[in-house]
Amino acid sequence: MVRLSPNVDPSSRADRRLLAVAFTVTSTFAAKCSTTTPATDRLQLWALKGFANSLFVEKDVQKAYDDWIPGTYINHNPDVLSGRENALAFLEPIFSNPELKSTIASISVGQGIGFIHHRLTIPGQADWAVMDRFGFNGTCIVEHWDVIQPITGNETNPIAYF
Ligand SMILES: *[C@@H]1O[C@H](CO)[C@@H](O)[C@H](O)[C@H]1NC(C)=O
Ligand SMILES: *[C@@H]1O[C@H](CO)[C@@H](O)[C@H](O)[C@H]1NC(C)=O
Repeated sequence: MVRLSPNVDPSSRADRRLLAVAFTVTSTFAAKCSTTTPATDRLQLWALKGFANSLFVEKDVQKAYDDWIPGTYINHNPDVLSGRENALAFLEPIFSNPELKSTIASISVGQGIGFIHHRLTIPGQADWAVMDRFGFNGTCIVEHWDVIQPITGNETNPIAYF
């Protein structure tokens, strides 16, 4: 299990400056991210861990999107059109299932792209091995791709997927 707490260094002047910008965004909801300042890998990793924590640990879809996907959202998932509202409408019913569980294997960021590799257990379905790939603008997520494999339990390879 990876550590999901923010790993921004408050003693770093660059991190403090970017965080100050992030928290002054004005909107109908207060996003934690910012598109107006170029972000480091470190800050984007902080953002992606915050997103993963809200979505996959707390299962609070609205908070995950309000904090980290406040505006543009280009989605390449085959079943959902682009836009925050489409994503929320698709995800809310799935994540409101109290039996849904996500076990995160890894979270990584580099070159403006982030990955979350996790096992998603949706009761009544097979488990899924999911690789979510995200594009950033600053510390905000603005684009998403996913690759999903069903886990049957009959895999030949004992280290299948993870
Ligand atoms: C990032 O967001 C800013 C608005 O804050 C916008 O002007 C800019 O075009 C965006 N950049 C990309 C690459 O989407
Ligand atoms: C696993 O393999 C067994 C034996 O071939 C089969 O009966 C079962 O349906 C398979 N389970 C899945 C989830 O594919």
